[in-house]
Amino acid sequence: MKKILIIGSQGMLGQELVEVFKKDSDYKVIAWDKKDIDIANEKEVMKKVGFTKPDVIINAAAYNAVDKCEADAKEYALAKKVNGLAPGYLAKAAKKNKAILVHYSTDYVFDGDFGKLISKEPAGCTHSCATCSLHDNFQPEIGYHEDDLPNPISKYGKTKLLGEKEVAKNMSSKGGSAYGGKNYYLIRISKLFGKPALSEGAKKSFFDIMLELGKTKKEVKVVDEETSCFTYAPDLAKKTKEVIDSEKPFGIYHITNGGSCTWYEAAVELYKQASAGGGSAYGGKIKAKIIPVSGAEFPRPAKRPPYSVLVNTKLNPMRDWKEALKEYLINSKLQAPNSK
Ligand SMILES: NC(=O)c1ccc[n+]([C@@H]2O[C@H](COP(=O)([O-])OP(=O)(O)OC[C@H]3O[C@@H](n4cnc5c(N)ncnc54)[C@H](OP(=O)(O)O)[C@@H]3O)[C@@H](O)[C@H]2O)c1
Repeated sequence: MKKILIIGSQGMLGQELVEVFKKDSDYKVIAWDKKDIDIANEKEVMKKVGFTKPDVIINAAAYNAVDKCEADAKEYALAKKVNGLAPGYLAKAAKKNKAILVHYSTDYVFDGDFGKLISKEPAGCTHSCATCSLHDNFQPEIGYHEDDLPNPISKYGKTKLLGEKEVAKNMSSKGGSAYGGKNYYLIRISKLFGKPALSEGAKKSFFDIMLELGKTKKEVKVVDEETSCFTYAPDLAKKTKEVIDSEKPFGIYHITNGGSCTWYEAAVELYKQASAGGGSAYGGKIKAKIIPVSGAEFPRPAKRPPYSVLVNTKLNPMRDWKEALKEYLINSKLQAPNSK
């Protein structure tokens, strides 16, 4: 039986990881959150992990207040500790105890400069349409590949990149900076949604906020920018287990649900699904009209990448985000029972 230590177990993702691994009798799950360990305290991490001796450590703990840490120096210092340095302490503890480390990062480590992103050509393309029809059935995947160079444009993004580097540095047998270190999976995700976290600092996900607004407002303005992918926490938890169980090669992975969209496009789909069948389970059809606006209408302290689709070149893809959203709405009893 493998001992798996899940840290951040009360978080949006952490609670799903606990559920997925608890169903498998091959695993003994140890679930810790902030009250059990402060990952930003190196001594505590070394002592508690050393005492527990896990085979696998999953770090789902993080500081996620993107705007707060942009605007406030104290918050930024905390974000650097939790997102930047703490993953390095966990890596040291994992290495010392010969455990595998799984750590999560974000699309916000990229700048999102669409102009610099290259769409890969189909194999064999001659770059002349007169002699090549390969593009006829080719769906280019424009976005960030696992080995693309990060260049964060927000303080939050910088702290998450520091965390990536600390994991790589401290897990690598030579202590080198190359990402080809040992025994860790670095999983980048974007726009997480699912059941709200159980922890004190729980924030609502975008979809829950939009549903609330749809109930109470006549008009909801939503930013029609920042194209990226959604990630459904239960799907990510299952995929993480698949990666561990199938002993995929260590390194960086991009795991999101299929399809990409702006915030506005996501809100349109949400209201369509939640209103289907009269929206009776949701206390009546959502009446709010959604207005697409530019990011300039909602000035926020932190810059967001305008385009940060994460391309997965290593794993079987997960289902489309719209399918995952349907399941989320059904599970949270927000969707009309007879909707399709
Ligand atoms: N949410 C997103 O949209 C998103 C997007 C991209 C990447 N990610 C990444 O995905 C992972 C999971 O995110 P999530 O949204 O599930 O996070 P979350 O819901 O905020 O959960 C994080 C958990 O970590 C705990 N925690 C915070 N500081 C800690 C510390 N010093 N020691 C121990 N535990 C601590 C939190 O407790 P308190 O709440 O009490 O502070 C909370 O229970 C993170 O690595 C995150 O950066 C998330």
